[in-house]
Amino acid sequence: MILSGQSKLAGVLGWPVGHSRSPRLHGYWLRQYGIDGAYVPLPVKPEDFETAVRGLVAAGFRGFNVTVPHKEAAFRLVDRPDDQAEAIGAVNTIIVAGDGTLDGRNTDGYGFMANLSAGAPDWKASSAPAVVLGAGGAARSVIAGLISQGAGSIVICNRTRSRSEDLAALFANAPADVSVRDWEDRGRALAGAGLLVNTTQLGMTGQPPLELDLTALPPAAVVTDIVYAPLETDLLRRVGERGHPVVDGLGMLLHQAVPGFEAWFGVRPEVTPALRNFVLRD
Ligand code: ATR
Repeated sequence: MILSGQSKLAGVLGWPVGHSRSPRLHGYWLRQYGIDGAYVPLPVKPEDFETAVRGLVAAGFRGFNVTVPHKEAAFRLVDRPDDQAEAIGAVNTIIVAGDGTLDGRNTDGYGFMANLSAGAPDWKASSAPAVVLGAGGAARSVIAGLISQGAGSIVICNRTRSRSEDLAALFANAPADVSVRDWEDRGRALAGAGLLVNTTQLGMTGQPPLELDLTALPPAAVVTDIVYAPLETDLLRRVGERGHPVVDGLGMLLHQAVPGFEAWFGVRPEVTPALRNFVLRD
């Protein structure tokens, strides 16, 4: 695509940003839909974040994705955070309004839920408890997404119990029961679960595997892992062999990008198998 003087511009701010698959993902859609636009990686140091955003807005950018370590700074910077951004305390998508002010969204929870709906269409949010392993930023997005779709009961298991408790406290007023179990009890916490989500780095390439006794997990429980490198984590392989419905983590990355692309480039893009293959290729 040759850029014109009217090209629509967006990008991803991170530090570092070289690992981000977002330029590949948005680049695929820009080409697929024949849009006169560009989506670029923007390596920005934490201390330069606000200056960079203001400058890029002045240069005509329509918006940004924001990744580690800027998501909380983005939440503080935007003029209008949406409900999910408020619930999570972080922004991953910035949309520049006509007057230069900033709308901030958090689409991670949406991406998680859209991936789950696509991969396990029979799963119902309100049916049985969801067990969430981990209590970091990813867990926060997953829990906000689950609650927004009507999940009634969520159990958090994290190595550091105090982080589980802090996370549960954030959702104390939410219309869901968010409780905490010790990390050592994680196998027992699976009894009666309808959904198991790994949000820790365990199982990621270069990280230790997730050790988890699956005996108590009901056969119909859906299992998903937000780790997507490798695409089939040890956890997903094990539950797949036991016959559980399995949803891999790549779709969350793809779906979370949809609202931003639509806002910046004016087309609601589709998440397709061809896109998955393209994003996975190095
Ligand atoms: P993110 O924003 O991606 O969620 P994070 O905030 O660093 O990243 O959270 C990482 C999660 O993986 C945490 O829940 C962490 O547990 P602690 O809160 O106890 O640190 C979990 N995690 C990382 N390494 C782990 C390990 N070896 N065993 C168990 N949990 C681990």
